[in-house]
Amino acid sequence: MTKVAIFASGSGTNFENIAQRVQSGELSQIEITALYTDHDDAGCIALAHRLNIPVHINKVKDFDSKTAYETHLLELLREEQVEWIILAGYMRLIGETLLEAYEGQILNIHPSLLPKYKGKDAIGQALDHHETQTGTTVHYVDSGMDTGSIIAQKSCDIFENDTHDDVEARVKSLEYELYPAVISEIIQ
Ligand code: GRF
Repeated sequence: MTKVAIFASGSGTNFENIAQRVQSGELSQIEITALYTDHDDAGCIALAHRLNIPVHINKVKDFDSKTAYETHLLELLREEQVEWIILAGYMRLIGETLLEAYEGQILNIHPSLLPKYKGKDAIGQALDHHETQTGTTVHYVDSGMDTGSIIAQKSCDIFENDTHDDVEARVKSLEYELYPAVISEIIQ
C-alpha cells in the first residue's frame, strides 16, 4: 500500500472521484490517509466525512508564518507515513518546507493545457483568448505556479456559445479520467 494525502481548498470533486476509485478497489494499492484542507468551510470536508476519510483543517493565518504552517503539515504527514501528496484544487503554492521533504512526490492537476494559462481561472483565461480547445494537465509540483514538469494532458473543444460552466464541466469530466489514470501509473 502506498499512502497518499490529498490537499484541497474547494468543492473537492476531484478528491471525491479519486477516493471513490480507491474505495471501489480500482486504485487498490493506494491508501488515502487524510484530506488536508486550508479552509474550514470548504465543500471537500463534507465529502470526506461521507467517505469516512479523516480531515485535517489548518488555516495559514493561525500560524506565525507559512513555514510554521507547513512544518505542522509535515509533522502530520510524517505521523501518517505519507509518501505522495496529491493536490486537487489546493489554492496555494507549496513552500520550501514541503517541497524539500516531498520533492518529486507531489502531483497537481490544472484546468488548462499547460504551459498555457497558469494560475487562477485558467478556463476564463482560455475563453478570453477565444481558444477553440482547452483541457487539463497533470504535472509534478515545483516552487512555481503550475510550472512543474508535465506528466499527461487531455484536451477538449470549446464551442462558440459555451459558457464558463459548460467548459468547466467538460474539463472536469476529463480530469475525472486523467488524474486516477496518472495516479495509477505513477504511484500505484
Ligand atoms: C480542478 O479543475 C483542478 O484542475 C484545479 O482546481 C479544480 C478543483 O476542482 N486545480 P474540484 O474542487 O476538484 O471540483
